[in-house]
Amino acid sequence: MSNEWALRKFVAPEILFGEGAIDLAGQYAKNLGARRVLLVTDPGVGKAGWVFRVTESLDRVELPYVIFEAVTENPKVAEVRAGARLYDAAGCNVVIAVGGGSPMDCAKAIGIVASHGRDIEEFEGVDRVEYPIPPLICVPTTAGSSADVSQFAIIADTRRLTKMAIVSKAVVPDVALIDPQTLTTLSPFQIACTGMDALTHAIEAYVSTAHSPITDLHAMEAIRLVAANLPGAVAQPLELAFQRPMMLASLEAGLAFSNAILGAVHAMAHSLGGYLDLPHGECNAILLTGVVAFNYVSCPDRYDKIAETMGLSLQGLDADGRSRLLVKKLSELRESIGISSTVGRLGVKKSDIPRLAEFAMMDACMATNPIMMQRRDIEELYEAIL
Ligand SMILES: [Fe+2]
Repeated sequence: MSNEWALRKFVAPEILFGEGAIDLAGQYAKNLGARRVLLVTDPGVGKAGWVFRVTESLDRVELPYVIFEAVTENPKVAEVRAGARLYDAAGCNVVIAVGGGSPMDCAKAIGIVASHGRDIEEFEGVDRVEYPIPPLICVPTTAGSSADVSQFAIIADTRRLTKMAIVSKAVVPDVALIDPQTLTTLSPFQIACTGMDALTHAIEAYVSTAHSPITDLHAMEAIRLVAANLPGAVAQPLELAFQRPMMLASLEAGLAFSNAILGAVHAMAHSLGGYLDLPHGECNAILLTGVVAFNYVSCPDRYDKIAETMGLSLQGLDADGRSRLLVKKLSELRESIGISSTVGRLGVKKSDIPRLAEFAMMDACMATNPIMMQRRDIEELYEAIL
């Protein structure tokens, strides 16, 4: 494990949290000097009415905008290219993303291409973005990805059938307008998947080799909030008493993982999701328990703290018993919100595993996993979820 007192930095955008935050998009764009805005979103968010709320706020301050809506679940290189072309052609100078991780990551990548004039593939990895991107405002509509506060952008590379992790302070948005009302139009399955993504962010950040006392604080609070509220949020999507703490959990998890980075669950989920175009949160939820069981020995105290924060009593148990109890709790949570434990039915085959492991090993998130994984370890973890 890392040294608790190692030199660390903590980066975060300006954050507005609460009902009505979405209506401030226009004013914030104006404050950032916008002349014309590129609004990046997807058709589902438009249908739910949240794009209209943002365009209304732009109209109120008389700011012209163009909408780029062609973003898919795992945003792809071609979508980034098309968005950057529209940004240039329309003469935009500010970007607003409205949606889940997909539109927000796509907006970040569009910003990178717009300010560098080069293909997005050139920026894969850590700290490879040279210049600032255009001012970026994010309005998240899921409680999971936390792309609105993170220094991550994940883009699917359809040529290599994997996902690229772009990690840079340059893609931390200028402003996050976080409005819990936006969660009320999600389906129970979307809430389940994105909530498990938030929980995975918090757990991986807490055990990351790059964690710090500041990220620990946010990670722990996120874990507590998800454990207490995710089942209720899935059962009652319209109930703000569950959606508010879930939105806060996502924010706290985002602040933690953006600065502490992630681990093997995300490295393996990026590889899996990029290969078969699967929902990111679902991949994480399925991979989480196997990785926790594998990682446990590297930092049992930290995993025990996670277990206790989720409400478990570990008294009288040896290390093996404590590890099993945490894994059982995570499995029960996943099952209770309707996510299965395997990916075989999603089309993953045994013959896919060597290439999945190869890409997972190369993912930027693998570097901060608390224990070094060998290729065979990763293959076995994939085999266990077939
Ligand atoms: Fe994630």
